[in-house]
Amino acid sequence: TAGADLPTPLMGFNDWNSFGCNVSEKLIKATADLFVTQGYKDAGYNYVNIDDCWMTKQRDPATNRLVADPVKFPSGMKAVADYVHSKGLKIGIYESAGTKTCAGYPGSLGYESTDAQTFADWGYDLLKYDNCNHLGDTTQAQYITRYKKMGDALKATGRPIVYSLCEWGNLEPWTWAKDKVGAPMWRTTGDISDSWSSMLSILTSNAKLDTFAGPGGWNDPDMLEVGNGGMTDTEYRTHFSMWSIMAAPLIIGSDLRTESPETRDILLNKDVIAIDQDAKGVQGKEIENAGGRHVFVKPLANGDVAVALLNETDAPALIDTTAAAAGLTGHPSYYLKDLWSKETTQTTGVISSSVPAHGTVLYRVSPAGSKVYPPQTTLSGSAPT
Ligand code: GLA
Repeated sequence: TAGADLPTPLMGFNDWNSFGCNVSEKLIKATADLFVTQGYKDAGYNYVNIDDCWMTKQRDPATNRLVADPVKFPSGMKAVADYVHSKGLKIGIYESAGTKTCAGYPGSLGYESTDAQTFADWGYDLLKYDNCNHLGDTTQAQYITRYKKMGDALKATGRPIVYSLCEWGNLEPWTWAKDKVGAPMWRTTGDISDSWSSMLSILTSNAKLDTFAGPGGWNDPDMLEVGNGGMTDTEYRTHFSMWSIMAAPLIIGSDLRTESPETRDILLNKDVIAIDQDAKGVQGKEIENAGGRHVFVKPLANGDVAVALLNETDAPALIDTTAAAAGLTGHPSYYLKDLWSKETTQTTGVISSSVPAHGTVLYRVSPAGSKVYPPQTTLSGSAPT
């Protein structure tokens, strides 16, 4: 890839979903602090990413370089990068492959080398590269040319910079982003918003692309809305479960300074994060989809399988599959660890649960060894709420 590889999906924060253009060095530094003090860094979140609106409306006329907004970033872009690095974290920045960014700031089209060098000089570790104001490109070849210019420019700086491609899934970037322009992650859809219907429609589109993801190249169904208030905690657990079983980048999009304990418990669920970050790097596959009941399976590096039972309907539903359907055979029984309730049960093959409306039960299924757990009881009743 252009700069830095991603053996597992990226984890971090981006300000856009909850702050829009109200980004600042104060916010970025506070977020880096909270990554360390609240356990996010320990859980694997390591990129703090700045989105659109960080710059002034004009390039520096003498050098053509981009200029930090002096009100939002009074210490400059390098100082905030240095601060984030001092916390043992990495930092990302944003531009667009057009004449202007989506919010109307100077774009990088025609300035790829200058801008890539600026980002490298400032010490940035990731570039999210958007697609606004691209002068009407309509073909894949045009997109590839435009995005390759920045990929090559990043590479030429010699600094490993993750190239995060954002053309909204317009022209099937999953077929070219990694091999042709050097981007190890690419958005597959338009922007997410903080609602059940938006999250579900993005999930539906991204789920079909499982065969295109793997170590070094990930489908990016956009940043997390967990904690932003437009969904219930049950829905947010579904959002986080599904992004994890789809091996999506886990980019927190909420205000860590005001996070509720419930939101923290979701974002810091290490068992769920381990499904996302599993070294095998498989995007979970949807093996059932009927009447709003979905089953996804994701094989894991140690031979276990993650199984998600997702209830899209507005009433509780019984959802079931089997170990064999999930790809596990040849064992007399299996442990089912519910990664939200933390209960472990044992089954000879049936994997089943009553799932609340808009909820997801996420199991880690392992061939049973010597340890014996109570038989599976969820068939008749209790499911996590
Ligand atoms: C586009 C991107 C968003 C965000 C905004 C910023 O809409 O898809 O993720 O970066 O631009 O203007």
